[in-house]
Amino acid sequence: MAAPIRVLFVCLGNICRSPTAEGIFRAVVKARGVADRFEIDSAGTGAWHAGESPDPRMTRAAKKAGYRLAGAARAVHAEDYRHFDHILAMDAENLRTLVGRAPEAAQDKIRMFRDHDPDGRGEDVPDPYYGGPEGFDNVVQMVERTAEQLVDDLLEAARK
Ligand code: 4NP
Repeated sequence: MAAPIRVLFVCLGNICRSPTAEGIFRAVVKARGVADRFEIDSAGTGAWHAGESPDPRMTRAAKKAGYRLAGAARAVHAEDYRHFDHILAMDAENLRTLVGRAPEAAQDKIRMFRDHDPDGRGEDVPDPYYGGPEGFDNVVQMVERTAEQLVDDLLEAARK
């Protein structure tokens, strides 16, 4: 068996956007029959919510679309920069934080999650935390289409 493709999704709090990316990406790889090719996790650049479950507003929006979110929030730690192959930031602010903290050897692993979005490459997944319910639905939609493309892109990259 080939080594797993290790993917870490990163937002600020690890209670809204990155747990959604983790949960939807898990569902997509399972549906495609390639779950065993991946190791998947999420984390936050901030630690304020460490130990918490995903935000209930986010869980509700994901559930409406057929996804279950799980896990407890944690901060990104130094070992993550070595362990993961792909460290995907949900917005530009988190990208800057990751680039600023990562060792030189990990810089190539870090990029925007939405670099893989066929409709809006490289843009932010907007932070829904201080807004209304539509912001959470928007996160789910962006993440769904990006996750589909991300599976293809990572499997293709792993073949090279
Ligand atoms: P996330 O959303 O980064 O998508 O998990 C946020 C969660 C918490 C806060 C901000 C954004 N906060 O300010 O506590």
